[in-house]
Amino acid sequence: MDLSYLAKMPQEEFTARRERVLEQMQDNSALLIFTESEKRRNSDCDYLFRPDSYFWYLTGFAEPQSAILLVKQTNKTESIIFVRKKDPLMETWNGKRLGVEEAPKTLQFNEAFDIEEIKTILAKKLANLTACYYVRDLQKWGDDVLDEIAANNHKIPTLIDWQSILSEMRLIKSEFEIALIQQACHISSMAHIRAMKQTRPNRYELEIEGEMLHEFTRFGARFPAYNPIVASGENACILHYNENDGILKNGDLLLIDAGAEFAYYAGDITRTFPISGQFSEPQKELYELTLMMLQEATKLLVPQSSIKAANDKAVQILTEGLVRLGILKGNVTDLIEQKAYRQFYMHGLGHWLGLDVHDVGDYGAERNRPLQIGMVLTVEPGIYISTEADVPEQYKGIGIRIEDNLLITEYGNKNLTSGCPKDIADIEQLMQSS
Ligand code: GLY
Ligand code: MN
Ligand code: MN
Repeated sequence: MDLSYLAKMPQEEFTARRERVLEQMQDNSALLIFTESEKRRNSDCDYLFRPDSYFWYLTGFAEPQSAILLVKQTNKTESIIFVRKKDPLMETWNGKRLGVEEAPKTLQFNEAFDIEEIKTILAKKLANLTACYYVRDLQKWGDDVLDEIAANNHKIPTLIDWQSILSEMRLIKSEFEIALIQQACHISSMAHIRAMKQTRPNRYELEIEGEMLHEFTRFGARFPAYNPIVASGENACILHYNENDGILKNGDLLLIDAGAEFAYYAGDITRTFPISGQFSEPQKELYELTLMMLQEATKLLVPQSSIKAANDKAVQILTEGLVRLGILKGNVTDLIEQKAYRQFYMHGLGHWLGLDVHDVGDYGAERNRPLQIGMVLTVEPGIYISTEADVPEQYKGIGIRIEDNLLITEYGNKNLTSGCPKDIADIEQLMQSS
């Protein structure tokens, strides 16, 4: 397998981000961020390590037990990284470390220290500052470090939350980030296509999950961006279903919500398709309605519009459609007013996408924040009809979601997941030809 195309973000981009953070900090302050800690899965086995997204965003460094300190004083700034020191024995067992000596040059920091010295160094560096940008309850081991410094009678300056600064920066993606997200979306699309081709009655949901993971790995994405949802039949009405142990029944739909994580960036695609390769009439009716919500909402996800405006349109289409199908009864305007659709569409239209699948950044009241060029978000309407719902029999137990990923551009938006089929004719043709 050739992995030479595995993207490496230029270190200058991380350095430039730290400089932008420093510009926004007040004088005589520091900013402190710890990465994730290693997590035990069971006994002496850990989960594979994945860095904290904010920490990665500012460093491009993926080792555990690391932290950074940016210091801003009048006419002087300083960037410091704390890393694990080299240790031949530990490296023989658990893998290579960058080490204190190499870190400043490789990661473009002014200085590096052994993480074991962090308390001493921090106590000294923070002593004469008036503020420290820090967020409690993100990394417990970081909180413990600060608490111990304070317990030893060292001064901790006033804490200021850095989340709004960094989340706003992460919300607008750079060219390089967009390329990585596009790649995550491509890989995710290919995995969904493979899943459609491999789906047959009597296979298990988790076999189809395996087909997707195989495709992710083949293209250099070792992890899914979140736990894949492979939900057949009425399992699709459980929004975060992930037992994935059901058997695929002829005549049911299969809803798959799965995305690859490529170079730490997430794809997030949902497709719903018939296990037999052919939609039944009631499935078709609900599918076409969901697709129309997605298509009309997508037209409104453009600069200066908002997720709220697009969702209002989707709700209008949904309510009209549900009345037409006899699933809701009454006047459309009144039903919208009463939010009658909520029992069948109980989640939001979409969310920011980036280093985290539910990426950071303010949404505004009711998600009315004006969209801007460089934002990336999902659009994911769904219709879920519980078996208990008081609706015509033929619709009971059907769950459908269709989810695409969009980049907001000067021309409107670019669909990053357009390579993944979603029209009924395209899905049926793909499935029946395989
Ligand atoms: N896969 C989680 C979501 O679609 O938001
Ligand atoms: Mn999803
Ligand atoms: Mn999503």
